Amino acid sequence: MRPLPRPTGRWTTAAVATVLAVAMAAPAASSRDESDTRTHAYEVTGPRTAAQRTVVAATGVSIDAVRSGSVVVTGDAAQARRIRGLGYRVSELPGPPDRNGGRDARPNDFPSEDSKYHNYKEAMDEIDADVAAHPSLMSKQVIGKSYEGRDIIAVRITGPAQTRAAKPEVLFTHHQHAREHLTVEMALYLLKEFGSKYGSDPRITKILDSRVIWVVPDLNPDGGEYDIATGTYRSWRKNRQPNAGSNSRGTDLNRNWNYKWGCCGGSSGSASSETYRGSAPESAPEVKVVADFVRSRVVGGKQQIKAAIDFHTYSQLVLWPFGWTYSDTAPGMTQDDRDTFAAIGRSMAASNGYTPEQSSDLYITDGSIDDWLWGTQKVFAYTFEMYPDESGAGGGFYPPDEVIDRETARNREAVLQLLEAADCPYRAIGKAQQYCASS
Ligand code: ARG
Ligand code: ZN
Repeated sequence: MRPLPRPTGRWTTAAVATVLAVAMAAPAASSRDESDTRTHAYEVTGPRTAAQRTVVAATGVSIDAVRSGSVVVTGDAAQARRIRGLGYRVSELPGPPDRNGGRDARPNDFPSEDSKYHNYKEAMDEIDADVAAHPSLMSKQVIGKSYEGRDIIAVRITGPAQTRAAKPEVLFTHHQHAREHLTVEMALYLLKEFGSKYGSDPRITKILDSRVIWVVPDLNPDGGEYDIATGTYRSWRKNRQPNAGSNSRGTDLNRNWNYKWGCCGGSSGSASSETYRGSAPESAPEVKVVADFVRSRVVGGKQQIKAAIDFHTYSQLVLWPFGWTYSDTAPGMTQDDRDTFAAIGRSMAASNGYTPEQSSDLYITDGSIDDWLWGTQKVFAYTFEMYPDESGAGGGFYPPDEVIDRETARNREAVLQLLEAADCPYRAIGKAQQYCASS
């Protein structure tokens, strides 16, 4: 904020009061440069094909929900004008809900009506307690730091029994996008479920005895804390890294992975965009930390991680690669690979009621984690878009905390299915003999 003019003899009390009132009425991000790029949610009516949605996304907005003849996007006023220039109708939607129940917002925490959500410290404390309660089952590693210096952690979960062959590993990643807080709750649910059911629930016991599970509960702690810092949601998506030569902060972590980075019109090169891909692949420290961690799971020349889910909100979707191309198959994705992705994806979707599809059925994305995990590591990597299915009734990015238990437990069966499939995903298409004979 620019300094207010100091009251001098020439200023009347009324004039000073007016200046103060105007200054105080200005929204939180009050420099001119930032207010020009303040984002809103818009409904865009008209686009009905993936190719049309990709053109809308190319204006720099994030596409937050896809319907048959419209999309919901987050973007600034200039982007909204460009979308109108494409010939679509654009109308502004209400901002995030006020969940403070008429009370003053408390800084640096969820609004009082959403207090069941865990801020960063609460999530870390809960995880530490889970690990302390189940020391033979779980261990925590700090795998690196966010831009602002917060710990990025991975929790390893496996039964104490040793097996003759290496246990297949499965990775769950959460919260690449700051405003998608329900995904952190999904991570906490998984830790609770595995911790409390091992030894009593035969299915979970068998899974933990034969798999290694990695949970990375929070890839974007800086963005998550920024989103709740004023006590009123800000609809923030990216990380909080400054960008050289721009007033706009943040990289879209899910466009920063080092596979076909920026290849195909599925991300933006402009720092102010909601889908800014960063200055280079892995330029976001959070992405580098997790990518290094995944690479560290190559043991004896073999990637130990066989399957993965990256949790997002919202839209209730089970997505599989590739995002960079509309084609079902491509270099690095055979027909058998694709059929395996689809078979497991559809089965998981049947269990949670989500819609299964290739991610590019929505619109093109490049530099996303699932493309990287499959394209470079051959990990069967899915993206889940959690509750709700619509922006309106369910609360969009901000579903009330009453739904946390139901909407995290809803993915239990899908998670267990992927864990069970992880030793030989190709079994899902009846080709275990051909692809997994040695194991
Ligand atoms: N909504 C998420 C995003 O914009 C996922 C988009 C689907 N594409 C993908 N490659 N998973 O990052
Ligand atoms: Zn997301």
